[in-house]
Amino acid sequence: MRLKDKVALITGAGQGIGRLTAMTFAREGARVVVADINMTSAQATATAIEQADGRAKAVFLDVSRPESVDAAFQSLSNWADGLDILVNNAGITRDARMQKMSEEQFDAVIAVNLKGVWLCAKAAVPSMVARGGGSIINAASIVGLYGNFGQTNYVAAKSGVIGMTKTWARELGPSGIRVNAIAPGFISTDMIATVPEKVVEGMRERTPLRRLGRAEDIANAYLFLASDEASFITGVVLSVDGGLLF
Ligand SMILES: NC(=O)c1ccc[n+]([C@@H]2O[C@H](COP(=O)([O-])OP(=O)(O)OC[C@H]3O[C@@H](n4cnc5c(N)ncnc54)[C@H](O)[C@@H]3O)[C@@H](O)[C@H]2O)c1
Repeated sequence: MRLKDKVALITGAGQGIGRLTAMTFAREGARVVVADINMTSAQATATAIEQADGRAKAVFLDVSRPESVDAAFQSLSNWADGLDILVNNAGITRDARMQKMSEEQFDAVIAVNLKGVWLCAKAAVPSMVARGGGSIINAASIVGLYGNFGQTNYVAAKSGVIGMTKTWARELGPSGIRVNAIAPGFISTDMIATVPEKVVEGMRERTPLRRLGRAEDIANAYLFLASDEASFITGVVLSVDGGLLF
């Protein structure tokens, strides 16, 4: 077991990549805090983990609200001694071309995908420092590296996540805390359900491995970065994109 008895909190773990990551971590021996703004789906993930003989706790969390982040991390102390792994996975899209994008669309994505990552990392660090180390993994995106049509807000947030990852790797490394990011390509989840089929087909054609990613492709990369196998890796942005030529 690669995460035996580690305590992991995964944001946005009610569905998609986060759910698969929670289930993968639990299978590898971690105690998993399944945190999501959607408590029904968070509870469903936790129940699925328990039915597979894993250990999980569902927690309500809105990553964009400091008081919700504080409450979620405080509720953890009744269940576990501290935290070893944080996966900042929660994310949203509100796509529009730059000139048509509203301030509301811009602010909503920055609040969840950028500020939320900072708030959760900030809440996790004291416990990791007390335990002598930890692993923080942030959800970036290949569009954070290359830009993307219609995603000013999302690209700004994901580029920012990459910058924060590299900054925190420097700041937290001396405390034994590793900080890395994953940059997924196109992954089959609800998030891309609204993308027109023509665009999805174009992405598939430009991907050398000729398929979309699956949630488990990302979950497995999170598992590697969370585990001790990656104990000398910090500050990296690992693309998991089938070689997509953007
Ligand atoms: N699917 C892709 O192709 C793709 C590509 C690159 C990056 N990503 C990133 O991976 C992450 C997961 O994507 P996904 O495809 O599984 O998305 P998804 O939409 O399937 O799931 C996102 C989860 O986040 C939760 N969430 C939303 N707002 C929240 C908030 N304020 N607080 C807490 N939880 C919240 C949702 O309830 C949901 O459970 C996101 O950060 C996304 O940007 C996805």
